[in-house]
Amino acid sequence: MAEESTYNIGGIQYTKDDIRKLDEVSLRGALHERTHHGIEVPVYPLVLNWKNEAVPGFGITAQVLYDIWKEKGYPDDEDILWVKRYLDYAAQIREGVRPEIPELDEFPVPFTEEELKVVHKLIWGRRTSRGGWAKKEVGDDLIEKILEAGRAAPVGCNLDEVRFVILKTEEEKKLIRSDVPVDNGVIIVICYDTRPSHIVRQDLPDRVPHNRGFDCAAAGDHMGLMAQALGLTSVWLSDSPGNGKKFKEAWGLPDELEVAMHLGIGWPAAGSIKSARVPLDYMIIRK
Ligand SMILES: Cc1cc2nc3c(=O)[nH]c(=O)nc-3n(C[C@H](O)[C@H](O)[C@H](O)COP(=O)(O)O)c2cc1C
Repeated sequence: MAEESTYNIGGIQYTKDDIRKLDEVSLRGALHERTHHGIEVPVYPLVLNWKNEAVPGFGITAQVLYDIWKEKGYPDDEDILWVKRYLDYAAQIREGVRPEIPELDEFPVPFTEEELKVVHKLIWGRRTSRGGWAKKEVGDDLIEKILEAGRAAPVGCNLDEVRFVILKTEEEKKLIRSDVPVDNGVIIVICYDTRPSHIVRQDLPDRVPHNRGFDCAAAGDHMGLMAQALGLTSVWLSDSPGNGKKFKEAWGLPDELEVAMHLGIGWPAAGSIKSARVPLDYMIIRK
């Protein structure tokens, strides 16, 4: 009897049946990571230095993960459509066909002077607000724009493990500790789901467990910038892990979720002095 094929996920060999037993979040995480490290990272040098020969097995684990994703009836969301593009290129490479990737001919266009002024205004204009927030609702449409900005932030290994909890009422906001008043504003708690990095073993101490916190911080920064652009102000509210645990319990969040940080956002009731930075030369250790 032929030996059953196995697929390497995070250094562990899985049969198709093993993969079928994964929960949706882990399966999605493995699919993202296998697409990222198995296709997205190696495909550019491979295509740009095309040797005119088939690469057997290229991207096959991602393909098997996707087939099981579909078998289970999970949807082709935006992220999965991104996966599918790479699967298509990988299938061509396995056949010895150089895939046509239109983006290879696209280069970033430098911003105009006017556009650069807006970028400068945003990144140097963003400031932390601690003077309280005016009694004016932060509408759902604005919260949505802010969350979308967080969604656009970079993520390690394409694992997409960042999650948000939005606290609106004063009662809800009391559930998480903050060293500045958050009356009238909203709090966005930035969490990460531990399952995507766990299934691909990126959470091991000698891998990149810190990426999950970095991903949350990147999302937080994007959201703070968007809040500023909308005329709101924000404050990062980091907290000790112990308090995050209490919040999880109070909010009934599952064990798989970890709280990284939270962001207070509202309409400023008062202006604030923008803090300054050390000189650039002081920051550069060597150039
Ligand atoms: C990782 C991190 C954690 C922070 N935690 C807090 C906090 O717990 N409470 C607070 O009032 N501000 C917090 N802040 C906001 C900083 O104090 C603020 O960014 C800094 O004073 C610079 O001011 P600016 O944001 O106006 O440029 C935090 C910022 C970062 C990046």
